[in-house]
Amino acid sequence: MTRITVTVDGQKNVDDVEPRTLLVHYLRETLGKVGTVVGCDTSNCGACTVHLDGRSVKSCNVLAVQADGHEVTTIEGIAANGELHPMQQAFHECHALQCGYCTPGMIMQAIDLLNDNPNPSEAEIRAGLEGNLCRCTGYHNIVKAVAQVAGQKGGE
Ligand code: FES
Ligand code: FES
Repeated sequence: MTRITVTVDGQKNVDDVEPRTLLVHYLRETLGKVGTVVGCDTSNCGACTVHLDGRSVKSCNVLAVQADGHEVTTIEGIAANGELHPMQQAFHECHALQCGYCTPGMIMQAIDLLNDNPNPSEAEIRAGLEGNLCRCTGYHNIVKAVAQVAGQKGGE
């Protein structure tokens, strides 16, 4: 076992993990952060996307020990003061989900996309989300939600 110290959603955690433990399994099974989900385990679907030091990563593709000393934000950590994050709100308003399985990862990736490029074109939004698969929505309303948040930011 290896001792790791990871700050997750603003809270510091010290835990002993197997060196082979994946970050997503650490989040879900040790910390109970089940808002982050596993869709494939082969780094294809993006459902497990979280932020590691502010950048999106597929947490099934990162070892828990690699997060030692770092900061992780999950879908459970982005709402503030009882208010949804603007990206969560936009997904809700634009009906950007059906079963919702891809949604946590999609939202975390979309936030990272706008951090990189606050004013993306539709094509850039689609390209930025290409690592996140959705089997339900056809992507149209997801792209609309991300564009809505970009528009709000642009108007600030
Ligand atoms: S579960 Fe990580 S990419 Fe699919
Ligand atoms: S809403 Fe069902 S997979 Fe995206």
